[in-house]
Amino acid sequence: MSFDRDSSLRILVTGAAGFIGSHTVDLLLDIGHDVVGIDDLSRGHRVNVKAARHRGFRLVDDDLLCSGVLADVITSFQPDAVIHLAGLTGIAEAEKWPHRNRRLNVDATRLVAEVAAGRGVRRIVFGSSAAVSGEPEPKGELGRAKLESERILEEFAGNNGMICVSARMSNVYGSRQDPEAPQAGVVTIFADRCKRRLPITIFGDGTQTRDFLAVQDAARGLMLAATRPEVPSGALDLCSGTTHTVLEVSKLVRSHFPKGPKPVFAPARPADITHSTVDPSRALEQLGFSASISLEEGLRGLIDPGVGALRRAA
Ligand code: UD1
Repeated sequence: MSFDRDSSLRILVTGAAGFIGSHTVDLLLDIGHDVVGIDDLSRGHRVNVKAARHRGFRLVDDDLLCSGVLADVITSFQPDAVIHLAGLTGIAEAEKWPHRNRRLNVDATRLVAEVAAGRGVRRIVFGSSAAVSGEPEPKGELGRAKLESERILEEFAGNNGMICVSARMSNVYGSRQDPEAPQAGVVTIFADRCKRRLPITIFGDGTQTRDFLAVQDAARGLMLAATRPEVPSGALDLCSGTTHTVLEVSKLVRSHFPKGPKPVFAPARPADITHSTVDPSRALEQLGFSASISLEEGLRGLIDPGVGALRRAA
């Protein structure tokens, strides 16, 4: 495998054909970077990066945990930075398949760190999750695996002089998030169901809060962390800094479908977090990042058929 060289930064994105990965690839290409992706297409979709491939993006459709795949790509491409987004992202899935969760999250992150450090990569940006929050430790399997991954990266940063940034993303929503996928978030699910004139289900009383981040903002935060040389190692929250209750989300989505059916209430999900506790200050200070798309705006973009299909946008 060989890659062309040019003067822009070379960035490797794992999970590149996924929801957040593909938006990140698009943004990096817009800015003029040279981008290669790895995705085994178990969750990602080739169509998400179809337009990117016409703009010079190259996709290696293989499992990064398979022997030699990552080493080959890194040796040939020699990325300046790796944005590591491949992994299992659904909270419920991680509870159901704890071994798979550890393999796809912890083992994969360790491999990315080892291979990148061994081949002189200077920077890793890791797609962590707000699910790591919890005192003294995260409650669920996903949060624990993400936190362990962060610690592995910290260790590598300490021992190898790499910069490792863990971007703990809040509830990301937007086009290309598959509403049927186990990791689909409430905004995408509500929008999809309302579009199909189906009732939405509110788990619990709907007063639980979340910080919702538009996927374009998430991609921008990841891009900044990967491309700004002054950004130091450590964890930061990539979030909007604004919280909404699930009832508010329901009201907002349903305002676009005034004749739609009323929501249905169901018992709260076991171990559902009541309130989001993310903090935008570190991302502002270190990346100069603040979210630019409100939930109202993001929803309009998601629902308006002129802007993009829910499942797979152009
Ligand atoms: C989400 C992510 C997770 C991420 C984490 C970061 C999932 C599916 N999504 O979990 O990957 O790491 O944020 O903090 O794991 N709800 C309803 N009706 C629905 C769907 C959801 O009422 O049809 C409620 C849920 O009970 C919850 C809230 O909406 O209270 C948000 O749910 P969800 O979008 O699944 O996100 P998180 O559980 O916060």
